[in-house]
Amino acid sequence: SIPVVTLDGPTASGKGTVAARVAATLGYHLLDSGALYRLTALSATRAGVPSDAVDALASLAAGLDVRFGDDTIEMGGEDVSRAIREEAIGLFASAIAVHQPVRDALVARQHGFRRAPGLVADGRDMGSVIFPDAPVKVFLTASVEARAARRYKQLKEKGFSANIQDLSEALRERDARDTARAAAPLVAPQGAHRLDTSEMMVDQAVESVLGWCRD
Ligand code: C5P
Repeated sequence: SIPVVTLDGPTASGKGTVAARVAATLGYHLLDSGALYRLTALSATRAGVPSDAVDALASLAAGLDVRFGDDTIEMGGEDVSRAIREEAIGLFASAIAVHQPVRDALVARQHGFRRAPGLVADGRDMGSVIFPDAPVKVFLTASVEARAARRYKQLKEKGFSANIQDLSEALRERDARDTARAAAPLVAPQGAHRLDTSEMMVDQAVESVLGWCRD
């Protein structure tokens, strides 16, 4: 079967960067599953659908008209790659990701990314729920301080305003919700390699993951 490398972990743990680098090195496809939750959140925000309207949210998720390009994400023909990175959209995404019907609505779309020669999948439940048979599973962690600093840098680079204190609080809130929820809580999957990236350079993290892929 087509190989999958899963990278799960909390927000700003470095998953996205590491996943992109590993996928590029191996020549594999890339699934940024968080983007699907963010896209659903953006559609909901625009349509005025509140975070507890489960059925409406699930149908928005099922009907997402999205195209993933190399550097862009288009929804209904509009480049929304910047809009979905807003911190408010990330928070809204985590609020709607607690609903099992919303998660269910995104499963088939995620499985569709598994194409030859292989897939690197980045998210919260990639190894535990979506691709439980993945031969290589990685669980990334990092301290709240390291992650807040990382997110601050990312947001600044994109030209968003940001504040470390607010970011730390938002991270804690998002982590608590992602970990405590009943539907696909954020946990290290069975058999996952653990990688703490607090003190680690991207290159080192990428090398560790590639090493596990070679084993
Ligand atoms: O990874 P990212 O920050 O883009 O994800 C946004 C939110 O989407 C997360 O806080 C989480 O609640 C949700 N999510 C999820 N399962 C995934 C990926 C993201 O529940 N596989």
